[in-house]
Amino acid sequence: ILGIETSCDDTAAAVLRGGRLASSVIASPRVHAGVGGVVPELASRAHQRLIVPTVEAALEAAGVTRDALDAVAVTYGPGLAGSLLVGLSFGKALAFGLDVPLVGVNHLDGHIYSVFVTEEDATQDGSAARVPPFPYLCLTVSGGHTQRVRVDEGFQHTVLGTTRDDAAGEAFDKVAKMLGLGYPGGTVEDKLAREGDPAAHTWPDPRLDRRKYPDEPYGFSFSGLKTAVLYHLRGLADAERDAAMQGQPLADLCASCQQTVVDALVGAIRDAVAATGIRAVAIVGGVSANSRLRADAQTAADADGFDLFVPRITYSIDNAAMIAGTGHFQLAAGHTSPLDLTAVPNLKV
Ligand code: KG4
Ligand code: ZN
Repeated sequence: ILGIETSCDDTAAAVLRGGRLASSVIASPRVHAGVGGVVPELASRAHQRLIVPTVEAALEAAGVTRDALDAVAVTYGPGLAGSLLVGLSFGKALAFGLDVPLVGVNHLDGHIYSVFVTEEDATQDGSAARVPPFPYLCLTVSGGHTQRVRVDEGFQHTVLGTTRDDAAGEAFDKVAKMLGLGYPGGTVEDKLAREGDPAAHTWPDPRLDRRKYPDEPYGFSFSGLKTAVLYHLRGLADAERDAAMQGQPLADLCASCQQTVVDALVGAIRDAVAATGIRAVAIVGGVSANSRLRADAQTAADADGFDLFVPRITYSIDNAAMIAGTGHFQLAAGHTSPLDLTAVPNLKV
C-alpha cells in the first residue's frame, strides 16, 4: 500500500508491505522558514513540485515498482484545500491508472493510528512491537488540532474534548513568531527551552476553567497564552524588549511558555485517566515530538501507573506512514473510496 500525505506543508509518501512499514519519506519544502506560518499558496505549489519525486523516493526505498501496489491510501482532510488537492488528485490518478482501490484517510485518524506504525525491520527479532491495548486515551496535539479521544476496538473513537481556539502547536508557533524565531516554532522553542527556567514567568493555564465551562471538562483554550506573551512584550521599553528576546531571557520565555503548555497537557491526561479508569495513553501529532512533554508525561505515567505510548519523532510530525497504516486497516475492514472523493478541509475526527 502506498500512503500519501499533503494536508499541510510537508509532502510525504510511504510504502507498507504486509502491514509493516517498508519506507517513509518526508519532504519539508522549507518555504515557510522566514514567514512564521504556512502560506497556503506556497504550500500547494511546493507539493506540486515535490509529489512525484517524493512518491518515487518512497517506492525506491521500499524496493518496489508502481505495478506492485495493491492500494493507494491518501489524506483527504482536514487540512489546506489546495494542499490536500495535490495529494488527492495524484493518489486518485495513480489508483485509477493502476486499477487498484483508493482509500481516503482522515489525517486525524492517521495521527491516532501513528502509535501502531511498525517498521519492517523493527520486529525481525520476533519480538512483538509495543502498541497500546484497546481502549486507549489519545491526545492529538498538532499545529491544527488539540483533542482528547477515547479509542476503542477497531479504532472507533469518541471525542472527549478539544480546544475552543488555537491548537497546542499554534501556541508554540505564534509565540515563536513574536519572539522572532523561525517556523515551525515548536522545534526551536523546545531547543532554546533546555537552557531556560520554566518558572521564570507565570502564564495563563490553557485548561478551561471547570466552573466557567462545566460542560467542557476536557476543553482547552490556548489563545490566552499568546496574548499574555504579546502584552508582556508590549509592556517593555524598546531596550528591555530587545534584551528579553535574546540570550537567557529568551530561553526563560521559551521554557516558561513550553512548561505552561506541557503542564496543561499532562494535567489533562492525568484527569482523563482518573475519570475514565483507562490506563493506556497515547500522545500523537507534531507537539508530541516535544522533549519536555515526553519526559513529563513519562514521569506522570510512572507516578499514576498508566502506560504511555508516543510515536517515534518521524511519526509524531506529519508523515505518510500513519496514512498508509490507517489505509491498510480500512482496506482490511472493506472500506475503500470512490474516485470522485473530494478534499474536505474541515473534516472532523
Ligand atoms: O502534526 P504536525 O506536523 O502538523 C499538523 O497536523 O498540524 O504538527 C506541527 C506542529 C507545529 O505547530 C510545530 O510547532 C509543532 O507541531 N512541533 C512541536 C515540536 N515539533 C513540532 N511543538 C513542540 N515541540 C516540538 N519539539
Ligand atoms: Zn498532523
